[in-house]
Amino acid sequence: MSNKKKCLMIGAGGMAGAWIRRFYPRFDDRHQIVGLVDINADILHDSGDFLGLPRSRRYTDMATAFGEVDADYCTIVIPPAVHRDAVIQAVEHRLDILSEKPIADTWPACVDIYRAVTEAGLKMHVIQNYRYSSRMLTMRQVLRDGELGRINHIQGRFAADYRKHGAWGAFRYEIPHTLLVEGAVHHFDMMRNLSGGDCKTIAGWEWNRPWSTFQGDCCAMYVMDMTNGVKAAYEGSCLGAAEQNSWHQEYYRAECEEGAVAIGSDGVTRMFRHTPGQGMRVEDVRPVVPEYDGHQWQIDEFLDWIDGGPAPDTRLEHNIRSVAMVFAAIEASSSSRSVDVEAMVGQVAGSA
Ligand SMILES: NC(=O)c1ccc[n+]([C@@H]2O[C@H](COP(=O)([O-])OP(=O)(O)OC[C@H]3O[C@@H](n4cnc5c(N)ncnc54)[C@H](O)[C@@H]3O)[C@@H](O)[C@H]2O)c1
Repeated sequence: MSNKKKCLMIGAGGMAGAWIRRFYPRFDDRHQIVGLVDINADILHDSGDFLGLPRSRRYTDMATAFGEVDADYCTIVIPPAVHRDAVIQAVEHRLDILSEKPIADTWPACVDIYRAVTEAGLKMHVIQNYRYSSRMLTMRQVLRDGELGRINHIQGRFAADYRKHGAWGAFRYEIPHTLLVEGAVHHFDMMRNLSGGDCKTIAGWEWNRPWSTFQGDCCAMYVMDMTNGVKAAYEGSCLGAAEQNSWHQEYYRAECEEGAVAIGSDGVTRMFRHTPGQGMRVEDVRPVVPEYDGHQWQIDEFLDWIDGGPAPDTRLEHNIRSVAMVFAAIEASSSSRSVDVEAMVGQVAGSA
């Protein structure tokens, strides 16, 4: 017990319910949830009962929980609009942080979080679980091995049939920029992950359509210029009425010097090579099967990190480059101009 890290869990329902029931139990020998917060009392007690947590350690108000619970770190799995409140209180109580994406729902909130955490010298890790799924580790390995030579450009597509109100969780139908803030942050991060570069500039648009049930923009098309010369293009839609490239079924294709590698809704990574006069050869790639997948990969690396291990790839100081792409994309759309993402990051993070 004494070596276990003590966790204050902010959020008990929705995705937090999956953390509590599916992701965290495998780590019971390395950590323990010692306090739980949710504004919905029914959800709080349902998850509290699952954990066998004393009622005195269940809270409907995070300020009381931060004040009373003795923890080593906190996990934040509540909607983006309340991430800043949670992070600022974690910093005041000197807790390291493992947080769901996006860092926050606005660029000023992301900047406040960045400054508060880095100035306090605390550790904050941001979930980008799609990097660590078997399918995307497989595609990334082909690119990193260099088997197809250097990357020319990358195409990404997300399309989900979220036309019915509530099909993608109620709050997402009410917030602005819903696809970019809640969805494309994963896909933009994937462009960094696959290309091996950061985003220099981004241009394009987000929009809504009259038949949508979303208040905010739920479709997007963007092009990106990466720092290593790779170009990337993204198509995203929550009004997908035909082929689905929803979560864990996104389409990505990287065109390279010696061929291309792609993955789509069937989950098979394939390499394509054209030889003049002979046509195209297609080869399935043997999947990479990690010991820890997705969220569990990131929980494992976070627990190692706060125990003195190496700093993970999607820690705050690096993930700010992915979330900056989201807010640059919003600005690009409203101004119809390309936006300098590197300059935005540089103003906040210097050369971090
Ligand atoms: N990485 C992924 O694959 C993935 C998938 C879904 C959601 N998410 C992220 O998880 C976070 C939560 O999303 P969700 O879909 O679970 O949302 P949700 O609306 O289901 O809310 C989760 C829980 O937070 C509680 N809550 C809301 N405001 C609170 C507050 N101020 N204090 C305490 N509890 C509060 C709600 O009552 C609910 O039980 C978001 O950041 C979202 O982007 C990530």
